[in-house]
Amino acid sequence: MNNSIPVHVSLIMDGNGRWAKERGKDRVFGHIEGVESVRACVESAIESGVKYLSVYAFSEENWNRPQAEVDALMGLMVKAMAAEMDKLDRNGVRFIVIGNRERLAPELVATIDSCMARTASNETLTLVVFLSYSGKWDILQAAKKMIAEACTCPERLNDMMNMGVGGFDAYLATAGIPDPDLIVRTSGENRLSNYLLWQSAYSEFLFVDTLWPDFRKNEFREALEEYAKRERRYGKVK
Ligand code: FPP
Repeated sequence: MNNSIPVHVSLIMDGNGRWAKERGKDRVFGHIEGVESVRACVESAIESGVKYLSVYAFSEENWNRPQAEVDALMGLMVKAMAAEMDKLDRNGVRFIVIGNRERLAPELVATIDSCMARTASNETLTLVVFLSYSGKWDILQAAKKMIAEACTCPERLNDMMNMGVGGFDAYLATAGIPDPDLIVRTSGENRLSNYLLWQSAYSEFLFVDTLWPDFRKNEFREALEEYAKRERRYGKVK
């Protein structure tokens, strides 16, 4: 395997609202155009041999946006999943959604479950959509899972107390998914915004000025080229 190709690329899709505003349109127009960028990145990831592509589609904090925008975004997710699933499945994409499902509408949960079940055995690319997700939520739900397990199986307590970092990984909502090698954030903002806090410990970060709806195949390939130039040391001396 070529080490210069990241196994897992994660995208913080930012700038849809500004993109729409620049064109005198409603913010939702930017989100609709943003779905096209997701499609382009999926295609480019497959062509480049990336095995995991993840997108930060909706954070826990995004629930605080105006209700009309939240409703439009949720409607867009259902529509995009229903519209894209045949093509994703045909192209060997395994589709996974990760996040706090408590506030998701039943229709959306049903769509997610059916898309995940249908594509579960695909192996070309895993597309992870982080929806109603936040890094702090993930770490907290992992801790709660451990507490619940210790209460129901006290005999596990000793193993849990001796657990290493890898053991904790298994309780995270991202269990089984490799940590992101490269995290790209668009639109000139330089922060993580409560994204993969635990999982990004050794990720390479790339912040680009491009607004998300303009981030297409060329921009994705450029991000991979930038990654190939980075020297990853993981705290060691090379
Ligand atoms: C951030 O831009 C973007 C979002 C919060 C939503 C992104 C979601 C999609 C593109 C839909 C993806 C759908 C699937 C099925 C994966 P912003 O609104 O914060 O932009 P601004 O900073 O310019 O206001």
